Amino acid sequence: MTTTATNPTSSRTLAMNGGTPVSATPVPFMLPGLAEADIEAAVKVLKSGMLRAAKKCEELETRMGQLSGAKHAMTCANGTCALQLAYEPLLQPGDDVLVPAWSYIATVSMIVARGCNPIFVDADPKTGQIDLTDAAGRVTENTKGIAATHMYGCPVDIDGVQSLARSHGLKVIYDAAQAHLATWKGQGIGAFGDAVTYSFYATKNLPTGEGGMVTCNNDALARQIKLLRSHGETEKYLHEQVGYNYRLNDIAGALGCSRLDRLQKETDARRAAAARYGQLLANVKGITPLGVTPGAVSAYHLYTVTFDPKQFRCTRDEFCKALNAEGVPTALHYPRSLPQQPAFARFIDNQRNSFGGWPVAERLASTVFSLPMHHGLSEAHFAVMAEAIDKVAAAYRA
Ligand SMILES: Cc1ncc(COP(=O)(O)O)c(C=O)c1O
Repeated sequence: MTTTATNPTSSRTLAMNGGTPVSATPVPFMLPGLAEADIEAAVKVLKSGMLRAAKKCEELETRMGQLSGAKHAMTCANGTCALQLAYEPLLQPGDDVLVPAWSYIATVSMIVARGCNPIFVDADPKTGQIDLTDAAGRVTENTKGIAATHMYGCPVDIDGVQSLARSHGLKVIYDAAQAHLATWKGQGIGAFGDAVTYSFYATKNLPTGEGGMVTCNNDALARQIKLLRSHGETEKYLHEQVGYNYRLNDIAGALGCSRLDRLQKETDARRAAAARYGQLLANVKGITPLGVTPGAVSAYHLYTVTFDPKQFRCTRDEFCKALNAEGVPTALHYPRSLPQQPAFARFIDNQRNSFGGWPVAERLASTVFSLPMHHGLSEAHFAVMAEAIDKVAAAYRA
């Protein structure tokens, strides 16, 4: 559907229809740039010649362990490896594992890589997090674990997950790739469940380019993860078991430590930006921020809203395109639910028939979009976003 944007409530022509954009310079969607201190930290490692995982990775592990409330923290090559390192000791091939229908693919693809059967669980319509009532309805005697993602940086209902797990003897792995420094009932999230995984990918809240981590409180599990991370090696060229090379390197370790110096401040700024969005969107009928789980404080990796098609004479994608033209970039996290991914087709038919599908996750795929979120959002950026959202919403108002 197109609009000429001559809606009586808006005298302004949309930029995508030839009007003047609210801002010729787009608001940055994210701020991946390095500070001088990060570059110096990386150069110091380069000059030392010690490129493999060493002191800086160890420092990152100690500090992230402390910040997330976990006894053990193990760096690794990326967040996907982190999932693999956590899943392998905790789950067996053939296990049924409850997984979110609404997450990034890695949470589930590594369940499949482990030889387990993913049992997709629908999302909570208010928060987009795993729906624990739906999860409970999908448990059978074959269910051995639950992998829950703290979506967008917001912790799931951890008490609810732990209680479900206790009732059925399930292993619990939390995917915190998007949730560094998020908290649950005042505590860091690093020691809940059996293991917690993180990503340090270039766009994450703590970015090192590529990188990841697993945290846990269990000594034996930590040892197993360290062995798996580095070819099961206990002393030089002595391999106790088969493993991988999933180690990080010290340049990434140094970047992580340097960026960690300001992560709390940046996370606070993200939280302030989320509060500012809340005020801005309170009066925009049909654009609703996803809610935060009661008891959780989000790290706001992303700021994601839902679009109500009944309130507008356009699709979600047309609305986003119009916002983009006004100088407000948007992104889709995600355009498909995981059961809609061709990669998982062989797991789907039976489950769709047995449990009635994943209507919420599928609806989220066609209604969510993410607005700019980072620590550098200023009042000037919010002024642009407020005006652009008002302009586009007025032009398309049903
Ligand atoms: C929820 C979630 N899980 C896992 C990953 C995988 O992390 P990585 O890209 O570091 O492998 C990501 C990264 O995008 C993610 O968002």
